[in-house]
Amino acid sequence: MRSFRRTLSFLRPYRARVITAVILTLLVTLLQIIPPRLFQYAIDDGIRQALSASTQIETLQKESKENPTAVAKNQGEISHLQEVRDNRAPKMVMYAAIALFGVILLRNILSFANSYTLTWIGHRFVFDLRFETWKHLQRLSLAYHNQTQTGKIMARVTGDIELIQGLIQGQLVTFLSDLVTLVAVIAMLFVLEWRIAGMIVALIPFYVISYLSFLKHIREVSQEQRRLWDEMLGKLAEKIAGIGVVKAFVKEDYETANFMGSVRAKFNVDMRQVHLNRRLGLMSGVISALGTGIVYAYGGSLVQHGHLTAGALVALTFYIGYVFNPAVRVVDFNNSLQWALAAMDRVFQTLDTRPEIEDKPGALALPQVQGNVKFENVTFSYVEGKNAIDDVNLEVKQGEIVALVGHSGAGKSTLMNLLMRFYDPTAGSVMVDGHDLRELRLESLRKKVSMVAQENVLFSVSLLENVKYGNPQANDQQAIDACKAADLHNFIMELPDGYETMIGEDGIKLSGGQKQRLALARALITDPAILILDDVTSALDGETEARVQEALSRVMRGRTTFIIAHRLSSVVDADRIYVIEDGKIVDVGTHGELVDREGIYRDIYREQFKSALESKSAS
Ligand SMILES: Nc1ncnc2c1ncn2[C@@H]1O[C@H](COP(=O)(O)OP(=O)(O)OP(=O)(O)O)[C@@H](O)[C@H]1O
Ligand SMILES: [Mg+2]
Repeated sequence: MRSFRRTLSFLRPYRARVITAVILTLLVTLLQIIPPRLFQYAIDDGIRQALSASTQIETLQKESKENPTAVAKNQGEISHLQEVRDNRAPKMVMYAAIALFGVILLRNILSFANSYTLTWIGHRFVFDLRFETWKHLQRLSLAYHNQTQTGKIMARVTGDIELIQGLIQGQLVTFLSDLVTLVAVIAMLFVLEWRIAGMIVALIPFYVISYLSFLKHIREVSQEQRRLWDEMLGKLAEKIAGIGVVKAFVKEDYETANFMGSVRAKFNVDMRQVHLNRRLGLMSGVISALGTGIVYAYGGSLVQHGHLTAGALVALTFYIGYVFNPAVRVVDFNNSLQWALAAMDRVFQTLDTRPEIEDKPGALALPQVQGNVKFENVTFSYVEGKNAIDDVNLEVKQGEIVALVGHSGAGKSTLMNLLMRFYDPTAGSVMVDGHDLRELRLESLRKKVSMVAQENVLFSVSLLENVKYGNPQANDQQAIDACKAADLHNFIMELPDGYETMIGEDGIKLSGGQKQRLALARALITDPAILILDDVTSALDGETEARVQEALSRVMRGRTTFIIAHRLSSVVDADRIYVIEDGKIVDVGTHGELVDREGIYRDIYREQFKSALESKSAS
């Protein structure tokens, strides 16, 4: 219920509209109850009056013929009856028709205004909640996003919010209107004829109970449908994305058969759904027909005996149609409420997740970053009990170029994630220019620390915009300079659209090396004080690597640079090389020092230059 109240709090700014919608809903509902009463008047006070006047006139005229003495006496009566038959009764019918027209017109106008207001409220609610969720998702830490499946996040931003929207602009309002309808119509039934009303009310539980028992099965089947549908889409997406693997292993037939299995399962469930729906239709048809039958049989005899007017009977039959379905919805309301409540809980759970990495109050904005980096007894673990970084100490002065070398999974990227403050260390502290990162404003840190990651994401916009993403204030010339520095300019100039070339879905595909270089340009355009290059040369061929290396040595000048590399050719010139193993720094020195002593570095070096060394010793 707390989530429910909180959802309503999102509606508080639109209080006036909500009240308008409630009033409009009530008016529309009440107007809907009027027409059967108008039919009743038209029949009882119009048509029936005219008919009975006609018969009376006939009787009187016959009497006048047989008994001339009564002529004078009857004349006045006859002309009065004729007045009723020709004038007053048709007028009653016409008034009823005009009133009917007026009521229907008014009802439609109000209903238009009502659905407009409701839809506005619903969409506005979605707008606000989506905005909140999106803003919040952006702020949540990398750790949260790494743990939470993208699919779940998407479901929250789209599906769950829509479910709540449905409740606000649909079910809640229908519930209100159903409740009013039920009370008003049942009251009306009792006013018209209490015995018939009693019978109808007695039928309601049968209808509701059997309907709900079907609904339970239908919901189960719907869930199954939903599950199979997700499964089907999941398989499709995965196998299409991995079509290369499917083909490479000649698994086309296997995958087709596998997929057909899902399609067939879905077909069977769909047919079960249709079957259930038809049976439900049949059942509810029978019960409401039973109700109508009772009204006609019993009501008919009441009319014959003069206990009920024909108009009232007609009105009664109309009202019966208003009873059964609202009764089901009112009883079932709790169910749809539960669905929406679960969705609300999930949305609020996301909104309530505090970002682990956040500016603390009074965080410092660094006006200028020099680029002195210090790790002091830093320990960090992604998962409890297993340290990815274990008591690391290192100090890098402004403008130094250091390299991190070590086996895959040693913790090199993790160390740099700590410097970007994607995560906070479990123990110890990471400092830039003598300030613990936790004391600094995230923005001022990340503006001056740029990372070219191992796996880079480019967005589906033009090449130029991708480069400028790093610094929207940069002008085109700066972007071009960055691309030149990343050895990408010549390649871009050969494209027909040059810097305006689109990337991604509708644009060109870049090779692994081109992506890395574009990411490098995007990092360089911020003119960072600290530059982190996580294995940026891995996807380059020897010649391109040499060119990028040369370009890099220019851009690295004056910046504190961290180079992570598997290929030692990229690190030989570094001021210092840290050898990392199992999250610890196990050795440090220049290339020359490290190859001279026993250790991991020399092993890696030997491995990489084996062929070159062997051919040398052979000659
Ligand atoms: N998001 C994560 N959640 C949990 N564990 C992680 C995560 N990222 C990395 N790890 C683990 O932390 C350890 C260090 O990973 P890291 O990515 O820092 O290695 P690396 O030295 O950069 O390796 P490579 O040279 O292959 O890039 C590995 O054991 C890895 O499995
Ligand atoms: Mg790595």
